[in-house]
Amino acid sequence: MDFPLFHLDLFGDRLLMAVIAVIHVIINHALAVGFIPLVVLFEYRGYRESKTNLAEGKKWDDLAYKLMFFAFIVTTSVGAITGVGIWFTAALISPASIGSLIRVFFGAWFTEWIIFVLEVVFIMYYFLTWKKTKDDPVQKWKHIKTGGALGIFSWLTMAIIVGILGFMMDTGAWAESKSFLDGFTNPFYIPQLFFRTPMAFIMAASIILFLTISYTKDDIKFRGKALKNIALWMFLWTPHVLAAGLYYYYKIPRLMEGNVPVAIGTQRFQNWYETILYFLIATIIVSMLTAVWAAFKPKRISKTAAFITIIITFLTLGTFERVREFIRKPYVISEYMYSNQLRVEDYDKYKFDGILKHAIYTSTPQITDANKLEAGENIFGLACSRCHTVSGVNSIVTKFENLLTPNGGDLPKDKIIEYIPVMNAGRYYMPPFPGNNDEIDVLADYIIEMQSNPIKHLGVQNKGVTISPGHAQ
Ligand code: HEC
Repeated sequence: MDFPLFHLDLFGDRLLMAVIAVIHVIINHALAVGFIPLVVLFEYRGYRESKTNLAEGKKWDDLAYKLMFFAFIVTTSVGAITGVGIWFTAALISPASIGSLIRVFFGAWFTEWIIFVLEVVFIMYYFLTWKKTKDDPVQKWKHIKTGGALGIFSWLTMAIIVGILGFMMDTGAWAESKSFLDGFTNPFYIPQLFFRTPMAFIMAASIILFLTISYTKDDIKFRGKALKNIALWMFLWTPHVLAAGLYYYYKIPRLMEGNVPVAIGTQRFQNWYETILYFLIATIIVSMLTAVWAAFKPKRISKTAAFITIIITFLTLGTFERVREFIRKPYVISEYMYSNQLRVEDYDKYKFDGILKHAIYTSTPQITDANKLEAGENIFGLACSRCHTVSGVNSIVTKFENLLTPNGGDLPKDKIIEYIPVMNAGRYYMPPFPGNNDEIDVLADYIIEMQSNPIKHLGVQNKGVTISPGHAQ
């Protein structure tokens, strides 16, 4: 409402955000937060060994360097690009919610930004000075400490962002107090942080296992030692994944009480909720088995086992993220703002006056006989386009066809008009319709027109900004 809306009518806006965010979270957890501590431990081991056995120490150091090379390349390219990408995408697709979150969490994000810049400095220094410092024990020790700082700073950026993610699921005491601290220490903060930390360690360990098998082909004896260390790390953290995963899992239903009022919703939720448990158990079993195999049969361990562990741990994190997104709906910020960017408290006004009257960027502040179709499209833009396209992914026409005319034929206007006011009851993850009856009427006309004559719904990036005459100064 307060921002002109960007829109992609082929893949939809949600998909763009999802793809970028998923890649970013995986890289952040698996190659930064979880990865650095193990690399630093290997480097430290090399430093200690080299006091008594220089050649052995060098092997540990070389392995640590090779692992870091991989993490450095990926985190500073794809990791960094997707991190910035999340900002650009979120600002384009969900401008109002990002605006609200920045208002509440300005201090947190500012701190996170400083920590992130330091993290970049540390990673540059850590990686780029590795070769130069490796032969001088005094310099080496400083280098290891830089690695330790890098690990802590990577974790801190995650620890700050998780506060904001938790807030979107449940604003907790903030709803009353509007205090930053209440928002940050929301009920989902600790469960998520507790879960993500060991999960990141396990994800990283499975990648390190995979890479170590490849990097130590010619030195099976050393491989045995390295794999034992990785296995130990996995043994150490897997019980934490289980404990924290279950803690998080049992916290979820409390949140759901408010969000899933209907039976169908409960059913769908139940399925997702059970899926979490399966993935959690699979992660525990697979990573434990792989760790045992790696520790006791380092010669015979196959890369496939390591690869399967990577996939399972990634899917587990993915499932948790999916459930996190799922249970937040229909809100983008729990009970404060719907996913269509409209605030809950403004709904009465929109339902009474119509949403067009209050929209700042619209070409049709009022519906007239002449502008019906355009008004319908504008309402689609305001109320549905954050999640639906006209004829691409999650197409509004196809959704109605599947629902109302599964055997083909023209969409019946009366049925569309009946559906829209109760859309939130059947599919609780959709926000309620935010307009009045006249607007439902023209939206139905628009959808029917799009069935026979589909035209892409263009975002502001294609059609430019139109300020409603009522709001123009
Ligand atoms: C927050 C995102 C979101 C918004 C906003 C939204 N929808 Fe949906 N809608 C969805 C999702 C997700 C689905 C289900 C897709 C699936 O299961 O394939 C869906 C499904 C539907 C369906 C099919 C329902 C069924 O039971 O099969 C209809 C009809 C529909 N939407 C209409 C609308 C209309 C009209 C608007 C705007 C007034 C709208 N939606 C706004 C996310 C949204």
